[in-house]
Amino acid sequence: MRLITSLVALTSLYTAVLAADNGLAVTPQMGWNTWNHFGCDISEDTILSAASALVANNLTQFGYEYVIMDDCWHAPSRDNQTGAPVADPAKFPNGIKDLSDKIHAMGLKFGIYSDAGTYTCGGRFGSLGHEQIDAQTYAEWGVDYLKYDNCYNEGLSGTPQISHERYANMSQALNATGRPILFSMCNWGEDGPWNFAQNIANSWRISGDIMDNFDRFDDRCPCTSVIDCKLPGFHCAMSRIIDFAAPVGQKAGPGHWNDLDMLEIGNGGMTFDEYVTHFSMWSILKSPLILGNDITNMTNETLAIITNEAVIAINQDAAGSPANRMWKRSASEGGDLSLWAGSLVNNTFVFALLNTSPAEQTVGVDLADVFFDQGKSYQTQAYEVFDLWQKDGAGSWGKSIGIIQGGMNVTIGVHQTKVWKAVPAPQANTKRNYAEL
Ligand code: GAL
Repeated sequence: MRLITSLVALTSLYTAVLAADNGLAVTPQMGWNTWNHFGCDISEDTILSAASALVANNLTQFGYEYVIMDDCWHAPSRDNQTGAPVADPAKFPNGIKDLSDKIHAMGLKFGIYSDAGTYTCGGRFGSLGHEQIDAQTYAEWGVDYLKYDNCYNEGLSGTPQISHERYANMSQALNATGRPILFSMCNWGEDGPWNFAQNIANSWRISGDIMDNFDRFDDRCPCTSVIDCKLPGFHCAMSRIIDFAAPVGQKAGPGHWNDLDMLEIGNGGMTFDEYVTHFSMWSILKSPLILGNDITNMTNETLAIITNEAVIAINQDAAGSPANRMWKRSASEGGDLSLWAGSLVNNTFVFALLNTSPAEQTVGVDLADVFFDQGKSYQTQAYEVFDLWQKDGAGSWGKSIGIIQGGMNVTIGVHQTKVWKAVPAPQANTKRNYAEL
């Protein structure tokens, strides 16, 4: 047993060291990005206001630290003498170094965006063939994070090896600067980055772009699975990305994460319960948690969701083990119910129930399913179970719902997710069976 434990420890140490060789994103990165809310309409002011709002709303205390400037920061062309990237002087009159200095002075980290192609998706100059000068310039600007996109890639994809080489060029250029720069790869899952990017990137997008909608099908996101998807596209509804993520959790771990795309919470296209589902599932699947709303103008509901410290703690758990889908069943009135479970540090566990159907459901959650991977003794023992979307007496997220053994019946609303943490109970004499919540 001890041998197995040390082998597991060794393996995770090895993978942690492998990840892009930069020691970053040991837990999934957290922050804010301009794209989902502002698109190309960004400036120094948009970014500094968001940075101030991160601090003013105490979001830094919850782990949000990167402020990421996405596409469209660029001048029409590079410096024609040096070939170095140049920012749009109208949008960034003080330059990028000044912006990053100001962000650092607020105790935050600064991220930038580029593309492993001739142009970015917004048609600005890309970094293909300019990796060294771009990485060097970013380092001089004080950049801490690069999101690296995939448009106009000149057909340099189609096999894992070709995609690997194109992204490895930038990964190596970043490492060569000597500055730790988190490398967030955004090739939308093409060629299966979960199979080849563990040692070049800290995270990789698994799908086409998210849409701020729960489940609307859109032909622009045509694939039914991300395995062998030939056109990742965009307008991927949130719950479709959850389906996409289910099989690839096994490939993520400390330093190298599946990126389910930036959050839409607070952008208005989903209900409160749907946004709770969005935050819960991104958290238990260990996606980076990158806010994508206007954080200078948030409702209390949005703030409550993104600051649930109990759910964030699952995302940031040091074991770094994404939850697995233990079953998926058709619900009685359309849609599905699914059960997810994962291991946390110190012999504790997370499990979650997701209702994508358009009706409330009551369902038995069997601990034999939750602990299928752990075996009989785990399946039959008693646990103290905490509901992470209820507050305890002291006002903190994560209310104990008692000692559970065997399983429990759960009533779950339309498009809701319930997330529980299970801690083995020292004694089982106060057990409840199939307790009604
Ligand atoms: C997409 C990317 C988005 C955003 C956009 C910018 O390819 O997936 O997250 O960065 O480009 O043009």
